[in-house]
Order: sequence, then C-alpha cells, then structure tokens
Amino acid sequence: MKSEHVPTGIPGLDDLLGGGYPRGRVILITGGPGSGKTTMSLQFLIDGVERFDERGVFVSLEESKYHLFNEMANFGWDLEKFEKKNQLAIVDASPLRQISKEKKENELQLEADQKDVKIRGPEFSIQALSTIIRNYTRVTRATRIVIDPITSLSFQFPDPQQRRIATIDLLDFLMSMGTTNLVTSEMGTQFGNSPTQREIPAEEYLCHGVIVLHTSHVSGRGAVTALEIEKMRETKHDRQLHPYSITEKGLKVETERFLG
Ligand SMILES: Nc1ncnc2c1ncn2[C@@H]1O[C@H](COP(=O)(O)OP(=O)(O)O)[C@@H](O)[C@H]1O
Ligand SMILES: [Mg+2]
Repeated sequence: MKSEHVPTGIPGLDDLLGGGYPRGRVILITGGPGSGKTTMSLQFLIDGVERFDERGVFVSLEESKYHLFNEMANFGWDLEKFEKKNQLAIVDASPLRQISKEKKENELQLEADQKDVKIRGPEFSIQALSTIIRNYTRVTRATRIVIDPITSLSFQFPDPQQRRIATIDLLDFLMSMGTTNLVTSEMGTQFGNSPTQREIPAEEYLCHGVIVLHTSHVSGRGAVTALEIEKMRETKHDRQLHPYSITEKGLKVETERFLG
C-alpha cells in the first residue's frame, strides 16, 4: 500500500510533517514576495521526477515560462530538459493574469494537448484552467500538480462570496484528480502578526494544510526567514517556527526550533 505521505523534496521538512505532504490533498504555501514559494513548489515536482519517477504539472499564473526557466536555472534546474522528457509539464497561464489586471476583453487561447481552450473572461477562468490542467495531467500522467500562485486568480473575484466559491471549485477540481497538490499565495511580510491582525483569506480555511514562509527584518541581522506549519489535517505535525534558507540547491529547513 502506498504511504499516506508524499516526501516534500525539502530537506528537513518531512520530519516536521510525519513523512511529507498528505497524499491526494491540497496544501497551501503562503508567504511574501521572494520568500521561496515558487522554489519550494517546484522542488516538490523535481524531487518526484528524480527520486520516485513521478511526473508533475506546474501551472504558472504569474511568471512567463521564459522567466521561470531563467530563474530556476539559478538552482541548476533545467526545466526545459524535464519538459522535453515529458517528466514535467510547465503550463504558462500568465495570460490569465493580464485579464484580471487590465480587464482585457480580447480572447486568449491557451493550448493544451491539441485541444484549444478559450478563455474569454474571468467567469470562465476556473473552468478553463481546470480543463487545461486535466489535459496536461493526462498527457504527462502526472501524480503531482502545482498552481503558482492562486492569488492573481482570486483578484478576479473581488466579492468574498464569489471568491470563496471559485476557490472551492478549484480545490474540488484538484482533489478530484487524485494527485497530490500544492497551491501558493502571496501574503504580507511581517511575522509576529497574530491571526487577528491579518485577514485570513478563504484558501487558508479551505486547503487541507497551510505552510507559512515568514520573513522578518531584525535590526542588525537583516532578513530572518522561518517556516511554520499552520495546519495539516490528518497529520501530527510540528507547530514551532523553524528557520529556513534558500541556497544554490533550493530551500531547506532547519529542524531545530527558531530561537529569534
Ligand atoms: N542560487 C541561489 N541561492 C540563494 N538564493 C537564491 C538563489 N537563486 C534565487 N535565490 C533567491 O531565492 C528566492 C526565490 O524565491 P521564489 O521562490 O521566486 O519566491 P516567491 O515565489 O515566494 O516569490 C529569491 O529571494 C532569490 O533571491
Ligand atoms: Mg513566485
């Protein structure tokens, strides 16, 4: 029988999660700009390919493929190579962001395995996105999916109720795929914020697990980064803040507690 946990690919993190992310679920990684959300989520997919022969679909809603390939080359990750071998599908869905930003009415097309999916406006985006992801997942035979980040998508639904429904639709879709899934979202950068000081977005309530990448600016020490497992259903997990760093190999977590 398959383990109930899927290794995260992040050194140090599996120990805090009782073995990894809960299989078949949707985990949210939230943090400020540059905190390592894209790195961490791609690392999950690459580790899947390299150690377990598991394939992945990465949906980029913010960065173009070109930028992503360039940035991740910093970590020695040759995404183009993985893509050519059909081990990873990198889906550039960044045009979706243009719709929400500029409210463009013109039609955009995203190609997904010979099947064109038309995206006309915000109201169709979750459905269209789901179709695109489903096609890529089938073609790649992927068992892992990342959507990075879902923040831009939810800007299309300024009404909190609509946004909640859209988020539920997207998460339900991911759950229906039977894959293990990561979604990322942008968050403010101060840590030490109590939950009452920041508005908790719907996705944090709706996802099975939430991992927060905190960045704090401490005088004399510069930026200090710490990872927190805010929640992880069905899992006995660590609840402390743990320092993490980004090196030339990607993200890694220290297993000792954060002492400030
Ligand atoms: N080779 C490297 N060594 C150390 N840090 C790096 C390296 N390459 C990129 N970084 C840093 O890693 C971070 C990348 O973060 P990213 O995953 O893009 O964050 P997010 O998606 O949360 O905005 C940036 O802060 C960048 O400066
Ligand atoms: Mg990013």
